[in-house]
Amino acid sequence: MTSIPTNSNTQPWSPSLKARLYGLAKPIDELLLRATYTARFYHWSRANAAAPTLPTRFDLYQHVIDRHGLGGTIDYLEFGVFHGESLRWWAAHNHAPDARFYGFDGFTGLPDGWVGLPPGTFSTGGQIPTFDDPRVALEIGLFQDTLGDFVARQPLDRRTVIHLDADLYSSTLYVLTTLAPKLRPGDVILFDELGSAYGVTHEFRALEDFAGSYRFHYRLLAGTRRYLQAAIEVMA
Ligand SMILES: C[S@@+](CC[C@H](N)C(=O)[O-])C[C@H]1O[C@@H](n2cnc3c(N)ncnc32)[C@H](O)[C@@H]1O
Repeated sequence: MTSIPTNSNTQPWSPSLKARLYGLAKPIDELLLRATYTARFYHWSRANAAAPTLPTRFDLYQHVIDRHGLGGTIDYLEFGVFHGESLRWWAAHNHAPDARFYGFDGFTGLPDGWVGLPPGTFSTGGQIPTFDDPRVALEIGLFQDTLGDFVARQPLDRRTVIHLDADLYSSTLYVLTTLAPKLRPGDVILFDELGSAYGVTHEFRALEDFAGSYRFHYRLLAGTRRYLQAAIEVMA
């Protein structure tokens, strides 16, 4: 075993000095985090500059359907349904009878505060959206309470589209890490708030942290302006 040499004369900072320094940093920790992930996002954007840019998120969805073959039998999993606008769009634009569309949401709003907004933002006030397409099913509750059971009972053996629209770092990272064993090359993951000023410390940070710690490989398929929304494809 290699031992790391230490210098016994080196005095570490005293605990009280450390506590004072950490106390000074605390009010700016969100700023520091944003600076870190904004810089990482800048490099990520430059590295991915060749990917096409579409005007709206619906153009992006249509682009990945047309160019990346998602109009057939897929499992579509959407995290963050709210009133169902994007889930309804995907079901309406895929005509494969065997395709399945799963919407995950507690419908009580964001479980944590987000960008200065309080927990509960995006609550539907007790209204659960309805869908007249029998291929659509809802998994109601926090992802942290529903996704584990879902993964255990669903084979997810078709091409899968995962749509992450839950805004929060915690929610996004939880979904990515829970679905990690199910991801296969060719699966597509959509982010709805990747590159906004706030998204970099939430959805982008979740993608970065997930990719780094799970050795997850992907390529960017396309995005909207400044990658507010983005579609990535899982690689081997
Ligand atoms: C921006 S909205 C989704 C918008 C929707 N995709 C659309 O296009 O209209 C975000 C949703 O994420 C849900 N959400 C976020 N984190 C969650 C979690 N951990 N569990 C369940 N729902 C969550 C909120 O309840 C909210 O409805």
